[in-house]
This record gives sequence, C-alpha cells and structure tokens, in this order.
Amino acid sequence: MDKRKVTKIGVLTSGGDAPGMNAAVRAVVRTGNYYGLSVFGIMRGYSGMVEDDIVHMTNRSVANIIQRGGTILKTARCLEFREPAGREKAYHNLVKHGIDGLVVIGGDGSFRGAQQFSSEYDIPCIGLPGTIDKDIAGSDVTIGFDTAVNTAVEAIDKIRDTMDAHDRLFLVEVMGRDAGYIALHSGIATGAENILIPETDTDIEELIQSLNEKERRKKLVNLVVVAEGDKFGGAENIAKIIRERIPAADTRVCILGHIQRGGSPTCSDRLIASHMGYYAVESLMVGRNNVMVGVINNKIHYTPLDKAVKEKQKIGQEWMKIVKILAS
Ligand code: F6P
Repeated sequence: MDKRKVTKIGVLTSGGDAPGMNAAVRAVVRTGNYYGLSVFGIMRGYSGMVEDDIVHMTNRSVANIIQRGGTILKTARCLEFREPAGREKAYHNLVKHGIDGLVVIGGDGSFRGAQQFSSEYDIPCIGLPGTIDKDIAGSDVTIGFDTAVNTAVEAIDKIRDTMDAHDRLFLVEVMGRDAGYIALHSGIATGAENILIPETDTDIEELIQSLNEKERRKKLVNLVVVAEGDKFGGAENIAKIIRERIPAADTRVCILGHIQRGGSPTCSDRLIASHMGYYAVESLMVGRNNVMVGVINNKIHYTPLDKAVKEKQKIGQEWMKIVKILAS
C-alpha cells in the first residue's frame, strides 16, 4: 500500500444512477471533512473531470440528501474519458485543484475508467458499487439494488391484482441488460411462475410447455418476470411467441423501465451507502488504491477493481430450481 498522505479528494457518480448514491456522496464528504481533508464534488461523472466542472463540498453541501434518489452530482457516460487525451485533460484538472485521491461511485463501466486512470496517473482511486443491477463481484450488495427490487415488487404486486381479476397471463419486464438479479429477486418475492434472465439460456419450448401445463391445471395467475437482457430481447418478443403458440391465453405485457432507478432509497441502501462511503475515505487515507469497497457476509471487503468488473456476480443455479418448485 502506498502510504502517501491524501489531502484533497474528489468524489463522482458515474454510469446509471442508483438510489443511495446521494447517501454515499454525503458519507464521503462528511468523513473526509471529519478527518480534515478537502472534498470536491466532480459533476456528471468523468465529464466533470475532463471539463473541469469541480466544486468544493462542505458538510452543508450534502445536507438533506440522504433520502433523495438520483444524484446531486449528476451522472453521465463520458466518451472523451475513454480516450487517452481525455484522461490527460482530466488529470491536469485534478492537479489544478490539488486533488490527490478519487472516490468513484458507479458500476462496471465506471470502474473500468477508474482502473485505467489510476494505472496511468499517480492518483489513487477507490470504487463504490453503485448500480441497481448488482452485477459486480466482490460484494453481496450494491448501492441501489434493494430500492430497485422493492420498487419492482410493489409494481408487480399491483399488476397481480388486475392479472388475477381477469385471469390473465402477464409478462413483466424489469431492468437488467446483462444481469438477472432484479428479475430473480422480484420474481421470487412476487411468486412468479417463470423468471427469464440473461444468465440462463431461455428455453422457449419449456416455457410454452409450463404455461400450457398451468392452463390445464386451471392455475389462475400466470406471472412471468423477464429481465430486459433475456436471450429473446425482452417481454414484448416473448409475448409475441406466446400469443402465436397459446392464442387462448389473454396475454399482457408491462415494462417497468426507469421507475426502477428512481425514488427514495430504502433503509438498507442508505446504510450500505453510508458504510461504504466512510470506508472509501478511510481506504484513501491508509493508502489503498484501485480497489472496490464491498460487503461480504456483513463485513467490509476490498476487491481489486479489475476483478470486480471481470468476474461479475454469479447467480446460483439452485435459485432457478427453487423458482420451479415454488411455482407448482
Ligand atoms: O443501471 C443499470 C441499467 O439499469 C441496466 O439494467 C439498463 O439496461 C441500463 O441501466 C439502462 O440505462 P440507460 O437507459 O440509462 O442507458
């Protein structure tokens, strides 16, 4: 570990926003100030670094935000930062402000940027997993997942009421371009008959067979939760096939979309964000670099950023078995 003392740190939120990012920013700012560091907020992710949109943060700058969704620092996906010239500009802007440590709150794309940057320049970077997708290795939890999944559950419970009243087949699409965690958790929690996720190879014949079987047994409610990144490309595509193959089923589709990214963070997301924010600053102070702060078995755990991105979080196959058993 590099024992060089940090004095001024920058914090940014990058990639898709996630409820709880504000709580994490608040924790970084207040912990930094507590330890006598200067803290700077970098606006719109790496764009603010490239364009020198960097503001000094006091404890008052982060007042009344712990309960708010979105991110007061805004977020963006910055193409310029992917180029060496963009990163060089960003470095010079940090140097101009005297920033000698960075906290990056975001998902895999944001961590790739942080890793690249800290391998080229002498500014240590600490990552905090802020993504509703929960697809990062090295942490059982990510900031925003719990809120997103609870938003999905609340919506699906409402859909169930009307689905039940009409004896309909419903396909509910939840977010997750490359990860099925929101689908899996919200599907199990709402009693879905089938859950389709990118991590497993959706077998359409098996799905049709299971729906036909339920029709035969007069199972009244037929709920299928689909992650947007499922092999068939989402709920609309699967509904098309079902309508052709089971015309008798009264099939409807509901795409939950970006409502899953917004809203006030749950208590759990506020806690993990606060916890991780504190440890991000502590990490910079003890000389850690290029690691993500995560939580494994309720304990803080540090994972190299490249490992967090490369390995992803795996979905245990026993979950899919449980889904089948509980839907019978
Ligand atoms: O935040 C992650 C995520 O929700 C993915 O699951 C989804 O595919 C993506 O963001 C969509 O984000 P955007 O509409 O901002 O590109």
